[in-house]
Amino acid sequence: MSTIDELNDMRTKALTEIAAAGDGASLETVRVAYLGKKGELTAILRGLGSLSAQERPIVGKTSNEVRQELEAALDGRRRDLEHVELEAKVSADAVDVTLPGRGRVPGREHLIEMITRQVVEVFIGLGYRIVEGPQVELDYYNFTALNHPPAHPARAATDTFYVRDLEAGDARTTGESDVLLRTHTSPVQVRVMENEEPPIYVLAPGKVFRRDIADPSHLPQFTQVEGLVVDEGITFGDLKGTLDYFCKEMFGHDRKTRFRPHFFPFTEPSAEVDVSCGICGGDGCRFCKYTGWLEILGCGMVDPNVFGYVDIDTERFSGFAFGMGVERIAALKYNIPDLRMLVEGDMRFLRQF
Ligand code: DAH
Repeated sequence: MSTIDELNDMRTKALTEIAAAGDGASLETVRVAYLGKKGELTAILRGLGSLSAQERPIVGKTSNEVRQELEAALDGRRRDLEHVELEAKVSADAVDVTLPGRGRVPGREHLIEMITRQVVEVFIGLGYRIVEGPQVELDYYNFTALNHPPAHPARAATDTFYVRDLEAGDARTTGESDVLLRTHTSPVQVRVMENEEPPIYVLAPGKVFRRDIADPSHLPQFTQVEGLVVDEGITFGDLKGTLDYFCKEMFGHDRKTRFRPHFFPFTEPSAEVDVSCGICGGDGCRFCKYTGWLEILGCGMVDPNVFGYVDIDTERFSGFAFGMGVERIAALKYNIPDLRMLVEGDMRFLRQF
């Protein structure tokens, strides 16, 4: 075979191999095989000297053409491969802008806050003001000025969290303390009446504390809303009308209320208010323990003894008061079987409201 034929075969073979190279490394192998120091084309160029004077210029020219052609083909193939590699990298790193974003659950009002707000809104609509009192309270406001006799069972250290001992001994075990965690929001009544002249129309929401073990119907810390009205000519009829209106606003206008005689040290007469069961409509079911009624709150006419502690003229003024548990109202409104669910902070539960 002549050297020219050899060159032509080599060109065809090399171009085929260049086109077939799948990546930069195999392309480099092809380059070295033909154009490297020990490459096939290099060998032919090296051998030019041994050719005849007739053959030498033709072979020299053709060799140069082949080298240029192979170099151009190598360059072209290298650019193609780089492009392919870049494309692959870009598509591997690509962000799929059509994927849905990762949602963030926004914060929301806790159910206890929601019910408290709803109660407050009903009474704001009736012209009441919101007031607050301390959670760490004096025995005087929590019990004494609310007409609790010294030996009243609620004063026992088994029922009330005491904070500070009066003299010697540990108040938490003896109960001989004048500072406690308020067991109800009623002491706010006394503080308001001490500082203000009637007419008084106030609502006092807040946390209260009792030495109870948490169970389905008890929490050692819960929320109450206290109401107090003192004005001229206030009667039990005003109390009934107000609380009946409140229950209908809170639970629905198809609900009925009833007032059962009860006893509280700070009101006389006193009553408990029941609302008709929303599950059975009053016929009796498991939810209302087959009574048709659900107990909602305590209330009564402010006891003259309480007015005595705050120097309000009972000849001129009378008043009513009421108190309710927010967690209990939430449980009744939404059929929540266990009050502890309200304070566990489980979002799967709380999200529903
Ligand atoms: N303080 C009472 C309790 O914690 C609730 C209550 C009953 C408040 C009657 C009142 C009231 O103002 O008049 O159970």
